[in-house]
Amino acid sequence: MNSKSIFIGILSLILIIIAAIFFFNNDREDGSQLLEGGELIYKDATQPIDVRVQDLLSRMTLEEKAGQMTQVNVTQLQGNSEWDAGPLNDEWLVKTFKDYHVGSILSGGGTTPVSNEPKFWAEMTNEIQKSAIENSRLGIPVIYGVDAVHGHNNVVGATIFPHNLGLAASRNTELVKKLGASTAKSVRSTGIHWNFAPVADVGRDLRWGRFYETFGEDPYLVSEMVSASIIGHQGEDISLTGKVAATAKHFLGYSQPLNGQDRSSAEIPMRTLREIFYPPFEKAIADGAKTVMVNSGSINGVPVHASQYLLTDVLRGEMGFEGVIVTDWEDIIRLHSQYQITDNYKDSIARSINAGVDMSMLPVGIEDYTKNLIEAVNEELIPMERIDDAVSRILILKFELGLFEKPYIDPDTTEALTLNQDRELARQASVESLTLLENDGVLPLSKEVKTILVTGPSADNIANQMGGWTIGWQGLTGEGVPPAVSFLEGIQNSASPETNVLFEKDTAKAVEAAKQADVTIVVFGEDPYAEFDGDTTNAAVPSDQAELIQKLAQTETSIVGVLVAGRPLIVTDLVGDMDAFIMAYLPGTEGGNALADVLFGKENPSGKLAFSWPNEIGQLPMFYNHYPKSTLNEKAYLPLYEFGYGLSYSKFNYSNFKVDEEGTMDSIIKVSVDVTNRGELAGSETVELYVDQQLSSVLTPVRKLAAFSKVHLEPNETTTVEFELPVSQLAIVPGDILGESEKVVEEGIYTLNIKKLARPVTIMDNIE
Ligand code: BGC
Ligand code: BGC
Repeated sequence: MNSKSIFIGILSLILIIIAAIFFFNNDREDGSQLLEGGELIYKDATQPIDVRVQDLLSRMTLEEKAGQMTQVNVTQLQGNSEWDAGPLNDEWLVKTFKDYHVGSILSGGGTTPVSNEPKFWAEMTNEIQKSAIENSRLGIPVIYGVDAVHGHNNVVGATIFPHNLGLAASRNTELVKKLGASTAKSVRSTGIHWNFAPVADVGRDLRWGRFYETFGEDPYLVSEMVSASIIGHQGEDISLTGKVAATAKHFLGYSQPLNGQDRSSAEIPMRTLREIFYPPFEKAIADGAKTVMVNSGSINGVPVHASQYLLTDVLRGEMGFEGVIVTDWEDIIRLHSQYQITDNYKDSIARSINAGVDMSMLPVGIEDYTKNLIEAVNEELIPMERIDDAVSRILILKFELGLFEKPYIDPDTTEALTLNQDRELARQASVESLTLLENDGVLPLSKEVKTILVTGPSADNIANQMGGWTIGWQGLTGEGVPPAVSFLEGIQNSASPETNVLFEKDTAKAVEAAKQADVTIVVFGEDPYAEFDGDTTNAAVPSDQAELIQKLAQTETSIVGVLVAGRPLIVTDLVGDMDAFIMAYLPGTEGGNALADVLFGKENPSGKLAFSWPNEIGQLPMFYNHYPKSTLNEKAYLPLYEFGYGLSYSKFNYSNFKVDEEGTMDSIIKVSVDVTNRGELAGSETVELYVDQQLSSVLTPVRKLAAFSKVHLEPNETTTVEFELPVSQLAIVPGDILGESEKVVEEGIYTLNIKKLARPVTIMDNIE
């Protein structure tokens, strides 16, 4: 090719490029793109989400970006003050969305529309959405969040499921998935896209007021339950009707405050953080949790909201989380107001956003937050890349939810998807959570029983059986009692027409009535509570209730004690007075029917404790997966009931326990065992596999739950339960007390246990 033709070639290339720029250039002054025909790229649903996000982001001002990073409580839009409930206030809607470009709204516990009915929720969220879109220059929809932590629990008429601690006792992950899906369906039908659930904190201290919100003390159990809940909420595609974004909360170490008080400091060694507290979050992230909420507390002297290590290095880096990190309630302010690690809002914001927070749950005070955030960026306290990163993640979530395409909900569909939804599922969940702890043979009640006395303060108290986070933040107050079956009603409904059901609450009268009865059912426990209001230093049975049980015990009549509580109360001195004892947790709407099903033997109890039940409060902290101790004076673990404990009306026998004899680092150990129902009733049994590392370079728990499976067996039926245990699951953090070393599986012998059966497996290094 000669130089002339090269010249002509280059020239024509240049001409073509100029022509292309001239004809096809849709670039706008702000650098964003138009599609041919003038449509904006970010509005085009056929474009990939990252392209849409980039396009939208390029059009946004810093003020608009700051607004997207802001979440306010709906009370900010209602009534006449920041905390007023009431009708939506037009002036404040415009201010919020036009002046401050706010990107997210939440209904904190107990904040509802004027009329707390599903339809009003949908109309309210639609109106807010409309205002958000119309007042936003770029038409960005708002994302709405709520705490639907046991059903759509803020809405009167929605079915309330058992709180997580009870669900954990069911050991039924399929069930938890269905409950997640049911909740998501109701939540989305009210125009809400984001559920601040499930709690992924491992509950290791019952003094803490949020113990009942956890799935108990074992990291593996918590992980499996959290995973099921997230999959149930989100499904394959969160843009679909009936799906919402889930939140794994509260990252990290929230559930083991040193003194048992909510939001007080936690001092947790790195090894424990990594082995006990990381796994549920790792699992949640692996299963696609869209959002993570941060722990309001501090760990080892650093508020988690200011920990770049935890929020960025660990959560983003090690765990690979790509979704939205949201603060908890007012927590950026607390960096200066409580923790005093800064002395002003701007620095607190910078600390927190730089640490990795994307969105701030204010919940009020928009101007103060956005103004300081904007200034912090302008003063280069926060790099613009961090802002763009945060806003991108928030926008991705909005696109994934399909909010740009389908911002509104049809208020006419919400009742059918919310009111009295899935009552059967709720009943099953309550039945499967009930945990039978004592039974001298009085249960199941005989069909011939003539007179039953029902007594105790929780026998007909819907508020107590629902627990906290039910309509009100602290649980039900007088107003808006949702439909539910009390324990008394459940027993009345299920007893045979020939049975006389007496009900007496007054202690003296109850004792008299007990003398006439064949059996006494005493339903006792706690009043509802949430968060710090639920902290306790004694977990005692209130003295009048203890007295009731003691006096009833002086009659000849058998006593069935039913505990309705968010934690194990100290019942050591009372269990001897009870012929049967059932832990009912906080069972929700169908609690009464569920209890009756079990009392009358229509259902066989199958719940297994998800925590260790102490004899005395001074034994705390107490968990079954503790380290061995160095002396023989007393056992390190002496609970009233162990983790995993729970009786059935049937007896299950285990035999034929088989385990692969050896494995390497990447193998999967096959385990099987035969289980036979030796009882006269059909029943379900949870088979639990535990592992104990015989020789380890550092201390390892005396045993750890490694797998579980729940099976249903007819009388005399035998089934083979199989597990596949990945050797990688045996990894521990080796090395000295800093707990910094990489997790490894150590070579050696591990003992696998199912009930009293034990088999060794030898794990060797991979052979080249
Ligand atoms: C709680 C969170 C909850 C948030 C919103 C906070 O006080 O700690 O669990 O999601 O409020 O209601
Ligand atoms: C809100 C709750 C929130 C709590 C935080 C309450 O006023 O309603 O949602 O969790 O404050 O302490």
